[in-house]
Amino acid sequence: MAGVTESAAVTRVRALLAEPATLVDGYLDVLGAERVPQSTAQRVMGSTLLPKIYERLWRPVLFFGFTMRNTADEDRLKRRLLDISAGEAVLDVACGPGNTTRSLVGDVGADGLAVGVDSSATMLAQAVEETPRDDPVAYVRADGADLPFADATVDAVSCYGALYLMDDPFASLHEMIRVLKPGGRIAVLTTCARGPEPVRRLSVAASQLAPLRLFDVHEITMALRAAGLVDVQRRVTAASQTVSARRPG
Ligand SMILES: C[S@@+](CC[C@H](N)C(=O)[O-])C[C@H]1O[C@@H](n2cnc3c(N)ncnc32)[C@H](O)[C@@H]1O
Repeated sequence: MAGVTESAAVTRVRALLAEPATLVDGYLDVLGAERVPQSTAQRVMGSTLLPKIYERLWRPVLFFGFTMRNTADEDRLKRRLLDISAGEAVLDVACGPGNTTRSLVGDVGADGLAVGVDSSATMLAQAVEETPRDDPVAYVRADGADLPFADATVDAVSCYGALYLMDDPFASLHEMIRVLKPGGRIAVLTTCARGPEPVRRLSVAASQLAPLRLFDVHEITMALRAAGLVDVQRRVTAASQTVSARRPG
């Protein structure tokens, strides 16, 4: 896509960035040659094949098993938890091929902005390809643990299906909270260890060696409360937890 001009949404997101970015294949890249630490699962996410089959094949099958919810139900719940008004800016961290970012377009409306952030160039290239150029959507290549936005920049943040892949998930969670405006909402979908405490402890510890990290049922809610968020809620289904909260103000 060499020589492609910036869409209006890309120009608006560039104005929100706290660091310089280069337009690459239709998304803004703040990482350049810098690499985000990668697990084996994360390397699969960065392959050329997975972004092509992710949204239509991989995700519906695997996420149904993981959450026992279909994508439409998951989107409905997410939009309710994020409670986005027209004109607001929402950040979708670890957006993959943009499926979770595009699901927010109707809520932000033409005057709002949905920004997808991911560290994978192949995922972002697919996201740009799948997104109509005039939509209020733009993508940024960055590390979730080092978001290139100033404090209190966005009205809502989502992070779906990704925290368990990240090298430092709690650093990412703190970054998401940092960029939330007072009154801003966050919704996270990730893994959940269930059962009696000794079993949970063992499975959480064992998962440190596995490609996907398992979070204890209380781990994410505790981190959000410790960071000062309020209205912290958790919904556990199958092997997943959907956690939401609000920044006071
Ligand atoms: C399974 S996809 C999730 C895509 C979408 N959010 C969804 O729910 O379908 C996980 C994404 O997390 C991204 N990711 C993993 N670690 C990351 C990090 N440290 N910073 C940014 N993105 C990351 C991967 O590149 C991948 O695109």
